[in-house]
Amino acid sequence: MSVPTLADLVGHASDEQWRARHGAAVMGTYAPPARVLVSGRGAVVRDAAGREYLDLLAGIATTSLGHAHPVLAAVVAEQLSTLGHVSNLAATPVQVRLAERLLELVHAPAGSGVFFCGSGAEANEAAFKIARRTGRPRVVAAHGGFHGRTMGALALTANEAYRAPFAPLPAGVEHVPFGDADALAAVLADTSRGEVAAVVLEPVQGEGGVVPAPPGYLLAARRLTREAGALLVLDEVQTGVGRTGAWFAHQLPHHLGDALAEEPELLPDVVTLAKGLGGGVPVGAVLALGSDVAGLLGPGQHGTTFGGNPLSAAAALAVLHVVEKDDLLGNARDVGAVLRDGVLALGHPAVRGVRGEGLLLAVVLHEPRARAVAAAALAAGFLVNAVTPDAVRLAPPLVLTAGQAQRFVDALPGVLDTAGAAA
Ligand SMILES: Cc1ncc(COP(=O)(O)O)c(C=O)c1O
Repeated sequence: MSVPTLADLVGHASDEQWRARHGAAVMGTYAPPARVLVSGRGAVVRDAAGREYLDLLAGIATTSLGHAHPVLAAVVAEQLSTLGHVSNLAATPVQVRLAERLLELVHAPAGSGVFFCGSGAEANEAAFKIARRTGRPRVVAAHGGFHGRTMGALALTANEAYRAPFAPLPAGVEHVPFGDADALAAVLADTSRGEVAAVVLEPVQGEGGVVPAPPGYLLAARRLTREAGALLVLDEVQTGVGRTGAWFAHQLPHHLGDALAEEPELLPDVVTLAKGLGGGVPVGAVLALGSDVAGLLGPGQHGTTFGGNPLSAAAALAVLHVVEKDDLLGNARDVGAVLRDGVLALGHPAVRGVRGEGLLLAVVLHEPRARAVAAAALAAGFLVNAVTPDAVRLAPPLVLTAGQAQRFVDALPGVLDTAGAAA
């Protein structure tokens, strides 16, 4: 059998030609792409014109092992050469093992369960459906949060610009200021519109500008939801699977603070995952903690063809294996500190501060010049993104080395000056 190469299937064109063909053939839901990327290794990618970039974005917090990781590539190839897809009419060992491993990592009690899907939005849709099955009418989420673009995930997302063109969205969602435990207490206590089924929060608001929950906030949310009989749903689509230096951001010790004696760990009811879980292979997951929560979606009440497909399950198992074996949680903490401390030590007049945890960081500017900074960084060979007008997001592969991080820190003053960021 003659097997074509990818080059045979795709063909050759110049950087400019690919851009023109992208504009002609791909629907314009995104801004025109800044580069056409063709290959990568570790934290380095190469464009169609042969230029190299240090990837400090990882496909928006997704390629956790970097590009072309040999373990991920080999495991995925082995699975695809063995059994690529079966549907949920059958079980596969690789799906079962992935579910078990995720439940171990989240410290799930007996009776917990995992629902697999293909993306973050789908994971949050499933969480929304779990909330509806409580029979309670209201769901509370936070201003500044982002949960995805499908109708339910959009209903959870407060950003009016994303919501308005698609009204009416599923009803019953209210938004509270992020980080304000009193506001959360008040909205849970006011039952005039019915009881709250679930509170949905990100431990670090990623798309909202990399804004961490203030210390104690998640614990307060846990206690308040428990008292009100509501579910605590943590959207760890961006923060999960090691990005913040813990398997899940809610496990970072500062969330418990002084309460450690009374509350040995922060256990949510539902955790949603995607992005970094598959290292670039699409996979999402909903972890339902405890049999009461896992039992809320019964047979026939939810499903998706690709959910837990062996290919994506194998990818996720490979990611979890490498994160553990290579101590990428430690690397996220250490290299994150190189970035954070290095940027702060520059004392550059354009920089107001650095926010975030581990390898999910934002360089916060005094002026709304993040777009110009991202463009100058790109020209200098670094992929970053302007997550909000005044915040430049860094979410590199978890394999980023301290040397690579330092290279960015050293280049940053020149990038900021080129961008006129202090103006
Ligand atoms: C916290 C969070 N939740 C959900 C989503 C949506 O995930 P997806 O783009 O895979 O649908 C995102 C994407 O940025 C996210 O950051």
